Amino acid sequence: MKKKVLLVGGGGREHALAWKLAQSPLLEKLYIAPGNVGMKNLGELVPIKANDIKGLLVFALEKKIDLTFVGPDEPLALGIVDEFQKAGLRIFGPSRAAAEIEASKAFSKELMAKYNIPTAQFKVFTELEPAKAYVREMGAPIVVKASGLALGKGVFVCNTTNEAEAALEEMFVNKIFGAAGTEVVIEEFLDGPEISIHVLSDGISHYLLPIAQDHKTVFEGGKGPNTGGMGTIAPVQWVTKEQLTDIEERIVKPTLAALKKEGREFCGLLFPGIMMTAKGPKVLEFNARFGDPETESYMRLLKTDLVEIAEACIDKRLGSLNIEWESGAACCIILASAGYPSAFNKGKEITGIENAEKIPGVVVFQAGTEMKDGKLVTNGGRVLAVTAHEGSLELARLTAYQAVDKINFLGKTFRTDIGKGSLKLVS
Ligand code: AMP
Ligand code: GLY
Repeated sequence: MKKKVLLVGGGGREHALAWKLAQSPLLEKLYIAPGNVGMKNLGELVPIKANDIKGLLVFALEKKIDLTFVGPDEPLALGIVDEFQKAGLRIFGPSRAAAEIEASKAFSKELMAKYNIPTAQFKVFTELEPAKAYVREMGAPIVVKASGLALGKGVFVCNTTNEAEAALEEMFVNKIFGAAGTEVVIEEFLDGPEISIHVLSDGISHYLLPIAQDHKTVFEGGKGPNTGGMGTIAPVQWVTKEQLTDIEERIVKPTLAALKKEGREFCGLLFPGIMMTAKGPKVLEFNARFGDPETESYMRLLKTDLVEIAEACIDKRLGSLNIEWESGAACCIILASAGYPSAFNKGKEITGIENAEKIPGVVVFQAGTEMKDGKLVTNGGRVLAVTAHEGSLELARLTAYQAVDKINFLGKTFRTDIGKGSLKLVS
């Protein structure tokens, strides 16, 4: 039976998911709430915000939606899965209780401590002065994190204790993250290359996707403030089989088991961000959804029908599903607005996407865009995700950067070193 599918979200990740869902032989119709203009030919855009759980529920019931796929963290943290399931609807994603592993860094750190899952040493604070005293006691470098959701920007990696104290003032006094920053995690600085692990889980079985790598800082070589992510590659070839086994045995399996034991069984996509330290892999954070922009690379490589994968998770038959991937590699370069992740201008005309997509292997996903007076203009910090799929990472990078050259808008900003570190580690 063909299915009516509702995709929740409106960024580059959701464009990539919509692109993949639209190819499903099981699809009758795709609705995207709210989506963005880049997705308008892939499904019907529905003007309901991703955090309007009630609005989405009413819509899904009215349209008799067969499957809902949730992209972003916020609706998961608000309990969209619980609400939809209560109403008898099928939905891919973790419950509110399970999604807390992302929504509260304090919860996730305490879970890791309780179950011996390798992570940076830490302490949780709800008041400024004790937090400052801890920073002075520990010394720099040190990492200060808002406990709640902060669009990937709530983490300060501080090279001096002054910087760390300033970050604490920003959160506790100036409340730059609102309620998300009233509880703060201060943790040990970890050194090493970073990777993104994505795990599908149906509560019984789990499946590890190929490894991806994001590039978090706004400037090349790990410089500048953290962003939601400036570009990704997949797969990451320098991680050894032994290291991957270590990640699965010491991080993935114990975390899924711990959540189950705590009455928070995880169904959906669990995404630990991992630092490959000299002392082995350690968890930086958990996300309870697909990464953005990891998904933009993943969807270029995924062969198996995404509707089928979501259905298998919901029906707890993931263990018998054969998930297949294209050979070669994918590379995604984010084109951002100048100034991001701080203040930036909007409304700058974007040209050249069609020319970029004429290059074989290239697909451009849209993140922060809108139509104004008949023109495509910038409407966010991360504007476009330019992706290429090629036979090798080297070629995928080259092709993606060729495509980047074809696209223009005032203030176009991107990193020139996406995937470069991984290439060096392999060769
Ligand atoms: P998170 O949202 O917790 O993953 O943090 C965002 C980014 O900050 C990570 O992707 C890392 O690049 C960096 N980061 C977070 N925690 C640490 C840490 N303990 N040591 C070094 N870098 C970190
Ligand atoms: N790319 C990192 C994230 O989605 O959180």
